[in-house]
Amino acid sequence: MDTQSLKEVFTHHFQNLRSSKRLELLARTPFDLTAEEHLTAERISSYAVNGCGLKLLYGTQRVDEATIDALEALAAETNAVKKMAFMQSGEILNSIYGHSSEMRAVLHTAARDFFADPQTSAAAVEAKNLAFAEVEKLRHFMTDINRENKYSDMVIIGIGGSELGPKAIYEALLPEKAPDRNVHFLGNIDPDAASIVLKDLNLKSTLVVVVSKTGTTLETRTNEEIFRNSFNNAGLDSNKHFIAVTSAKSPMDDKERYKEVFHMWDWIGGRYSSTGMPGAVPLAFAYGFESFIDFLEGANSIDKNALKSSARENLPLMTALLGIWNRNFLHMPVVAVIPYAQSLGRFPAHIQQLDMESNGKQIDKLGNHISFDTGPIIFGEPGTNAQHSFFQLIHQGTTTFPTEFIAFKSPQTAESHKINGTTSQEKLLANVFAQALALARGEKNENPNKNFPGNRPSSILLGAEITPYAIGALLALYEHKIAFQGFIWNINSFDQMGVELGKKLANRIIDIFKDPKLGADYAVENALIHQLDSF
Ligand code: F6P
Repeated sequence: MDTQSLKEVFTHHFQNLRSSKRLELLARTPFDLTAEEHLTAERISSYAVNGCGLKLLYGTQRVDEATIDALEALAAETNAVKKMAFMQSGEILNSIYGHSSEMRAVLHTAARDFFADPQTSAAAVEAKNLAFAEVEKLRHFMTDINRENKYSDMVIIGIGGSELGPKAIYEALLPEKAPDRNVHFLGNIDPDAASIVLKDLNLKSTLVVVVSKTGTTLETRTNEEIFRNSFNNAGLDSNKHFIAVTSAKSPMDDKERYKEVFHMWDWIGGRYSSTGMPGAVPLAFAYGFESFIDFLEGANSIDKNALKSSARENLPLMTALLGIWNRNFLHMPVVAVIPYAQSLGRFPAHIQQLDMESNGKQIDKLGNHISFDTGPIIFGEPGTNAQHSFFQLIHQGTTTFPTEFIAFKSPQTAESHKINGTTSQEKLLANVFAQALALARGEKNENPNKNFPGNRPSSILLGAEITPYAIGALLALYEHKIAFQGFIWNINSFDQMGVELGKKLANRIIDIFKDPKLGADYAVENALIHQLDSF
C-alpha cells in the first residue's frame, strides 16, 4: 500500500472523535460497582471474552453495555482492527509521517505464522520464510547440542527486550524444566551481576548466547567481553562456546567469533522479539524444541483472535479498550499487572517494557504534540505476595487505578496439598476473586480508617494451566493490547527514541572517566563524578 493511502487511517485526533465525545459523556456517570444490585452473578458470567484457552472476565470494570458499545465504536472509528491487519501483513507502521523515523514494518507476528490460515501478503510471506529458516536452523542446532550432551548451562547476555521477555517465559515454565539444563540471564552492566552469574558456573559445559538486535548495546557488549575473558583465562576457546542472536550485518554478525549466529530483523522490535530467536534459543535449550513450537502456536492463536472485528470476541482489543476507558475517560494514570502465579514473577517486568517503551509517547503519528494521556505507568508483582505488600494503596490510597489480574485453574506441578479442606491452588484462586470483589464493592464503615471506597476496577484473565501454549497466548495478548491502544491514540508504538538521550550522556561521562581532562568541557558532568571523591 502506498504511504498516502496508509497515512489516511493515521490522521485522526483521538479527542475529536465522535466516539470519544460519547465516551466523555458516559464517563460523567460511570457504572457504579458499589451498588449492590449492580454486581450480579449474571454480570460476572456475561461480561467475559473467551478464546485461545483464555477467558477475560471484566464484570468488575466500571462499564455497562452502553460503555462497551461506545468503546466498540471508538475501535471502529479509529480502524483499530484494520490497522492490526495492516500490521500483520507487513505495512510500514513504525513511522512518523513528515519527520525522520524508522520507517519499518512491524512483523513479530510473522515469527509465529507457521500454523493454520497464514497471512498471504508478499511482505508477511517473505518475513515468515526468513523466520522459519531460523527456526529450522535452531532445530538442527539443538539436535546437535542434545547429541553432543556437553552443555548443562546457558547464559543469556542481553538487556531490555533481549532479556525481559525471554526471562519471563523461561521462568514461567520452570516447573517443567529438565533437571540437567539451566539458563542464567545477565542484563545489567553492574559488575556484581556478571560476578554472580560467573560464580559457580562450569564454563566447560556452558553456552553463552549474546543477544543484541543492534549488536552495539553497551551493557551487552561489555558483559560479553567479561565472559570471553573468563573463558580465555580458563584456557577455553570462547568462540566455540559463544552464540550470537543479532541482526544481519550488525557488528555481531560474525561467524568467525561465534559457534552459530541466529538472526533478528529490523521488522521485529526488541521488546516484541520473544517469539523470535531471543526467546527461542533459551526455551528450546531448557524445555525442548517442541515446547518452543507450542509457545509459538499459542501466540499465533491470539494473532488470529486479534483480527476479529468485535471486541466482545477479541481478547486483546477488549483489554485495550478497557484500558483506554480507564486511562482517558476515568483518568487513571497507573495499571497494576498482578499474576496469581509465582512462576509469572518476571511477567510484569516484561509488560513494563512492552507497554511503557511502546506507548510512553507525547506526539502522534503526524509528529504533533498531543494533549491527552497515552501509556499508563505499569507495575506489578505476583499475588498473593503483592497483597501483603502494596495492596493497601490499591484499596485505600488516593490514586485510583485498575488492576489486571491473571490466574490459572490448575497448578503446573501435579502435587495438590489439601490443608484444612482446600488445596493451595483453591486458596490462591479464592484470593484473586476476593481481591477483585473487594476492590469493586468496597465496604462502608463508620470508622474512616476501616472504610473501603470500592469502585476500583479490575479484570481477571483466567486460563486452565500454565503451559508453553498458554504463555505464548498471554504474551501475544499483551503485545496486541499495547498495539491496539497505540492505533487508537494514533501514536507510533514501535520506536523508542526516548531512551537515546540518556545513552548519549552516559557515553560522554564514560569518556570523562576514561580521560578526566575532558571534564573541563563538561562542568556539571564533572561535578557529579567528583561527588565520588569523598568516599
Ligand atoms: O535502550 C532500549 C533498547 O533499545 C530496547 O528497545 C532494546 O530492547 C534494548 O535496548 C536492547 O537492544 P539490543 O537488542 O539492540 O541490544
